[in-house]
Amino acid sequence: MTDHITSIHDLGKDGVRGLLDVAKVLDGQRTDDLAGHTICSAFFEPSTRTRLSFEAAAHRLGADVIGFGDAKGTSSAKGETLEDTVRVLGGYSDLLVLRHFDQGAARRAASVSDVPVVNAGDGAGEHPTQTLLDLYTIEKELGRLDVKVGLIGDLRHSRTVHSLVPALQWFGADLVQVPAWRLELPDGNVPHSGLATAAAECDVLYVTRVQKERFDDANAMAQAEGSFRVDKELLETNGSKAIVMHPLPRVDELSTDVDDLPAAKYFDQARNAVTVRMAVLKTLLEESP
Ligand code: NCD
Repeated sequence: MTDHITSIHDLGKDGVRGLLDVAKVLDGQRTDDLAGHTICSAFFEPSTRTRLSFEAAAHRLGADVIGFGDAKGTSSAKGETLEDTVRVLGGYSDLLVLRHFDQGAARRAASVSDVPVVNAGDGAGEHPTQTLLDLYTIEKELGRLDVKVGLIGDLRHSRTVHSLVPALQWFGADLVQVPAWRLELPDGNVPHSGLATAAAECDVLYVTRVQKERFDDANAMAQAEGSFRVDKELLETNGSKAIVMHPLPRVDELSTDVDDLPAAKYFDQARNAVTVRMAVLKTLLEESP
């Protein structure tokens, strides 16, 4: 097991499998396994689920939590570098959960950190612990990971998708992409599909919002946002048997009329986040020297 989780590739297939198995054991538990440890959550970009599920996970393991959810109140607003901030936070904590707007920030942090760094989203880069909870949810709902998955939306900028694609491929999943206008996956080895075909043929529809904060061009953003939508009618017209997933937050790309269907699993994903992040914290801290 790696010291840091900056990318899904730090874990590899065996690391992912191991963490999913630890999570299954921790489901619903409250322990003091990490009593005496301090987790620092340093969030330079907005977050609801990721920060609070990491913090809930730490509390459920008996750890203390320090951190910030808005970097405007920290010395980065005075011009402090990420590297200096990370060095300092390592003196106050045993593990750093980092979200940052720069792609590659987690790797930069890990290169100077004395404590394990967990990437909680780095710009349009990766979001490896979201992938763990996505896989955990798929396995819990469908009993296996070698399923057919339709990836829908802003696949160019979605860091959740960038971590999810290689992991699903390791476990034998069959992938198709249904990108929003001009927002294909950066790496071209996943075949394209239409939305209706994906709804009819996939076991999982994984929907993502257009990542507004990554656009310079407001017109391109609006065009992308208007180019797709998953709703009840799409699912019913195409006889879809898929579960519908979304890392959240959703905007208009996923209609609220899906919420009451048994297919809707996005709030289950958010709930599973605590269990999976407990597995991450416990494994990294119990294995770190
Ligand atoms: C995602 C993120 O921050 O990348 N949210 C999350 O962590 N669940 C997805 C998004 O913001 O669209």
